[in-house]
Amino acid sequence: MAEDLHIATGTKAEQYEALIPQIKGLIEGEKDLVANLANIAAALKEQFNWLWVGFYIVKGDELVLGPFQGPVACTRIRKERGVCGTSWARAATLIVPDVEAFPGHIACSSSSKSEIVVPLMKGSEVLAVLDADSNQLATFDTTDQFYLEQITRLIVW
Ligand code: SME
Repeated sequence: MAEDLHIATGTKAEQYEALIPQIKGLIEGEKDLVANLANIAAALKEQFNWLWVGFYIVKGDELVLGPFQGPVACTRIRKERGVCGTSWARAATLIVPDVEAFPGHIACSSSSKSEIVVPLMKGSEVLAVLDADSNQLATFDTTDQFYLEQITRLIVW
């Protein structure tokens, strides 16, 4: 495992292309889920410096806060609530360019302006969601969706 992350410059796609092999290196050979989720959150935060990035894990009928980087956050989210609970219910990635325009958005931080939530799937079952928040409007697009979905598929549950 590399000790330091190499922070790439360039287009968003180039940054992800440089980051993903490093994430593979960080998690390969490690079976512990929390350790891997923690390092993925840290790597994404270091590369992109979003306001908040981390995981909520499905436990019963709720999402429960998992490893993350950024300000303290709400600990439990019910299915269909907020962006995370909606992504879980739909088993689909949601890109929210303006969180104030998303009905039922849960504001963990008043600085959050845009958000992407990507479900972690095992077959058709959602096991967790990856959530990233930005303090700028319209930070996330289909490039983020493409690469963040790749990253979620690296996680062995
Ligand atoms: N905004 C999310 C809640 C989680 S925080 O952003 C970390 C939502 O609406 O589900």
